[in-house]
Amino acid sequence: MKGKDLLSISDLTPEDVWGIINRAIRLKKRRAMSTVLAGKTLALIFEKPSLRTKVSFDVAMYQLGGHSVYLSQAEVGLGSREPIADVARTLSRYVDIITARTFAHATVKSLAKYASVPVINALSDGEHPCQALADIMTIYEKKGKLEGLTVAYIGDGNNVANSLLLACASVGANFRIASPRGYELSEKIVRLGRRSSQKNGAEIVLLRNPNEAVEDADVVYTDVWTSMGQEAEAEKRRKSFAGYQVDARLMKLAAKDAIFMHDLPAHHGEEVASGIIDSKQSVVFDQAENRLHAQKAILAEILGR
Ligand code: NVA
Repeated sequence: MKGKDLLSISDLTPEDVWGIINRAIRLKKRRAMSTVLAGKTLALIFEKPSLRTKVSFDVAMYQLGGHSVYLSQAEVGLGSREPIADVARTLSRYVDIITARTFAHATVKSLAKYASVPVINALSDGEHPCQALADIMTIYEKKGKLEGLTVAYIGDGNNVANSLLLACASVGANFRIASPRGYELSEKIVRLGRRSSQKNGAEIVLLRNPNEAVEDADVVYTDVWTSMGQEAEAEKRRKSFAGYQVDARLMKLAAKDAIFMHDLPAHHGEEVASGIIDSKQSVVFDQAENRLHAQKAILAEILGR
């Protein structure tokens, strides 16, 4: 992965994915400060709000001996104050790596095209690869394996679902998704996922009915119905997603030892019934913690000695 961009999970081979998971687990155990990125600087560009991603990247750089600079959209004006290409070429003269959270996936691609340093996608409307890597690390920690497990995703076929599907496919985990009409995964992602899942002996199943999706599943995953940038559609989406809430009844249909996952922020009482996040089955804060360890591994793989 040395020097590579990470825009999509499909940029990674299964070996890269396993390399990140294993390194993240080692880093988490060791918990020590390191100097592997001494003298290196990360630029963090955010067009959208962030809690986990911003803090975990900043702390990751610090713990690896490097440094980070945070840039909000108000300061940078990606594509408005200044062309994306010029931002990319300027930052490349100062920093060793760029992380960007953007609306259009094309923006993060364009940054990568013009930057001479690696670019990491910290969430775009298309994908959230850093989340998916922390997610499968979490599943591996909890279940002791990935191959042959079934991950059931309930809700919007969005950026989080896209990356999770690709990550599951790459490690041989089955992926089932139940979405209402009009909110399904794109055909392009399904095609991409199936190409890799078939090689790795896993299945991708597209469903309408949440009950069917979670039946005997090892993992039940959901995300918000209204993603950042879609706020104007919130009311319409609330109606479309009625019946797609993960609640105690739905969790009972999954395997006895199933875990509940959510990338957060969650809208308690909307996509997830209140109480589920606090239940014994929920691993959402381990997931959140693992963002740090997984991103340390990603940064070290891309930039490290
Ligand atoms: N799908 C959500 C994920 C937030 C981390 C969004 O894009 O807003």
